[in-house]
Amino acid sequence: MTFSMLICSQGCEQQNDNVEIKVLGEHNGSEIYTYTLTNKAGNVLKVTNFGAKIVSIEVPDKFGNMDNVTNGVDNFDAIIKGDLYGGATIGRFANRIANAKFTLDGVEYTLPVNNRPNTLHGGPNGWYVKAWDAEILKGKNPAVKFTYVSPDMEEGFPGTITASITYTWTDKNEVIIDYSATTDKKTVINLTNHAYFNLHGTGKGYIFEHILTLKASAYTPLNEVQIPTGEIRPVKGTPYDFNEPKTIGHHIGETYGDATFRGYDDNYVLDNKEKVNAIVYEPKTGRVMEIITDEPGMQFYSGNSMAWIRSLGEENNAAPQGNIRSGLALETQHFPDSPNQPDFPSTVLNPGQKFKSRTIYRFSIRDN
Ligand code: BGC
Repeated sequence: MTFSMLICSQGCEQQNDNVEIKVLGEHNGSEIYTYTLTNKAGNVLKVTNFGAKIVSIEVPDKFGNMDNVTNGVDNFDAIIKGDLYGGATIGRFANRIANAKFTLDGVEYTLPVNNRPNTLHGGPNGWYVKAWDAEILKGKNPAVKFTYVSPDMEEGFPGTITASITYTWTDKNEVIIDYSATTDKKTVINLTNHAYFNLHGTGKGYIFEHILTLKASAYTPLNEVQIPTGEIRPVKGTPYDFNEPKTIGHHIGETYGDATFRGYDDNYVLDNKEKVNAIVYEPKTGRVMEIITDEPGMQFYSGNSMAWIRSLGEENNAAPQGNIRSGLALETQHFPDSPNQPDFPSTVLNPGQKFKSRTIYRFSIRDN
């Protein structure tokens, strides 16, 4: 048990000036907390040790109004029973693994099936439902480090992995997410954060008019059960091209090929030529979110099916009447199904190696 957990056993206490801890409740024998990180500008990032998850990011719009720009809800039931992926750390393997199996050094590993024939987001008991240990870090910026030790063969994956996720909230309204992991046996790993964003503020509208720039010249097309075919296909001339700024709704509902284009749930192959990999801009509020990552891919999910929001009930409903496309996810990661795709960047982690990755979500305001 970490220091931060001990001092909060009596309820809510102030650890220091910029991180406040609140006990939310108990889940499967573990205490669940929220950590409220306040930066010098007075803006707030709230995270929880359940799923090492982002609960809210509160930043001003161009008129000075504050809103939570993620779809998280600060409420125990919503965090434990609501959408489990939203805002969470996804591990051990973000995105899909085909037919719930892969082979490593001649050994076939069978995983639980939780998405048609596939494994999605590390399986039904992935890291997004674990209670992580927490530690508040000392330093210039408020920061919380979550640690989880995943036992050998958890959800079918080999190796004991010790993983940590550090959230730092800077004075420039940057959420810096630092991932690190080690293993005692050769394994595969792919970590992401699954926050949904809505720059109007959650519950205040759809993401159709959000303007996206995504610096990726190619994407990885999918088969009928959303597994990459292995092709790296140029986006030029397709609805997938966001190299120049374009509204997310621009192509949704259009005829594309012989079908209606229903939205995005696709992995982009990042060019990684410029520092900023993606920019989302919402003109009415002036809010801007920039994404910077060292990962090779980004899953753009336009919130095509968000039935979970309805399951939260009216009171905790983060969207207007539980409608789809009330949030979008831009998940930085390695490509889906990499363990079965020899031509994709490797997701193998060996003992003695340290997995390290950083993603930054930076919020600002554009006035025109
Ligand atoms: C996947 C979607 C899935 C969603 C669930 C995304 O990362 O790409 O297919 O429905 O997660 O939250």
